[in-house]
Amino acid sequence: LPIDLLFWVWGAVAGLGLFFLTLAFTSRFICNLPDSLPKAVFEMSLHGVAVLGPLILGGLFLVWGSAAWTPPPFSTHPAELFLWRFLVIAATGTFGVFTLLDLKKWIAGPAPLPGVEVISVPRPYLEESAPLSFVNQLYDLEVRRLRLSPQRTGGKCSGLRIGHLTDFHLGDFLSDPFLRHSIRRLLELEPHLLAVTGDFVNFTRHLDPCFEALKELKAPLGIFAVRGNHDYWVDPEGIAKRIGALGWTLLHDRTVSVPWAGSEILVSGIESPWSQAWESLEFLPDRTEQFHLVLSHTPDEFPRLRGKSPHLVLSGHTHGGQICFPFYGPVLVPSKFGRKYARGPFLENDSLLYVSRGIGCYPPLRTLCRPEVTLIEIL
Ligand SMILES: [Fe+2]
Repeated sequence: LPIDLLFWVWGAVAGLGLFFLTLAFTSRFICNLPDSLPKAVFEMSLHGVAVLGPLILGGLFLVWGSAAWTPPPFSTHPAELFLWRFLVIAATGTFGVFTLLDLKKWIAGPAPLPGVEVISVPRPYLEESAPLSFVNQLYDLEVRRLRLSPQRTGGKCSGLRIGHLTDFHLGDFLSDPFLRHSIRRLLELEPHLLAVTGDFVNFTRHLDPCFEALKELKAPLGIFAVRGNHDYWVDPEGIAKRIGALGWTLLHDRTVSVPWAGSEILVSGIESPWSQAWESLEFLPDRTEQFHLVLSHTPDEFPRLRGKSPHLVLSGHTHGGQICFPFYGPVLVPSKFGRKYARGPFLENDSLLYVSRGIGCYPPLRTLCRPEVTLIEIL
């Protein structure tokens, strides 16, 4: 076996590790900082490093072959050689850690979720073709049905159907026809109540078409919304006014009661960490007899709800990881918990969190991660 070949493989491994490392750092420490222009520029730069860094690293291993450990330009500069070796070891180590963790998860299999069943139905939008469509699932909508047994809701609200939509990110690529398609596929299932968990648009200029399309949403028990980080960045007051104009209920850190079949449903909305009222969760009731639904743009709030134990928490924000690799799954998840709450259902302390992959995303690229609308059916 030529020694150069081993170094070429090492270069590929280290390159992949550098990709994981850069995105993991961005996800945990940068993505959730308050939005500002410097933060956006820094975040985009790190995404650039995540793409270009591995290509350069792998390319250098390809060119230098077996000399890659002591490459010619660095051999006379001990500090530079140290930094080069540190980078290679960190990247290789990251690849090893990711691989071992995912292998462990794969061997353990999915966590048991008693009383929860998920069914996926493909409902792709065929009128438009996504950029880089051979790898991009931008319009491959999936309708996910989350069927909950009475044990998940304290025996309450049998027969209730809740529709969940999140992260429209309406913009130049995710145009309103795709949003309307997603809305119609969900409304076909006749939800009683609708939950919208934020990130309406990327830029102010898309607000008009977005809220025009959202006029189609109707539900007999009402439509409840929270705003996401992009909404706080774009125009929080303007979006609140538009939500009010549609007759929806904006749950800006508050709880409301909704009558249902002689009983009531408690619906709370959390806008932290972006809202000003994030310090206290006093507006949330403690574990109640009634079915308690919480809307939170980010799943990062879920562990803070441990003492309150709501029956169901609906979130978006992660876009399901958006860019996913075979075996490794999502690699970019804007969460301080890394990839833990990337997508799907999670059961902790008798509370169920469901993280939707959302309808839109930003930038407009989805690999191995379809967009979704969700119907929660209480059996
Ligand atoms: Fe989002």
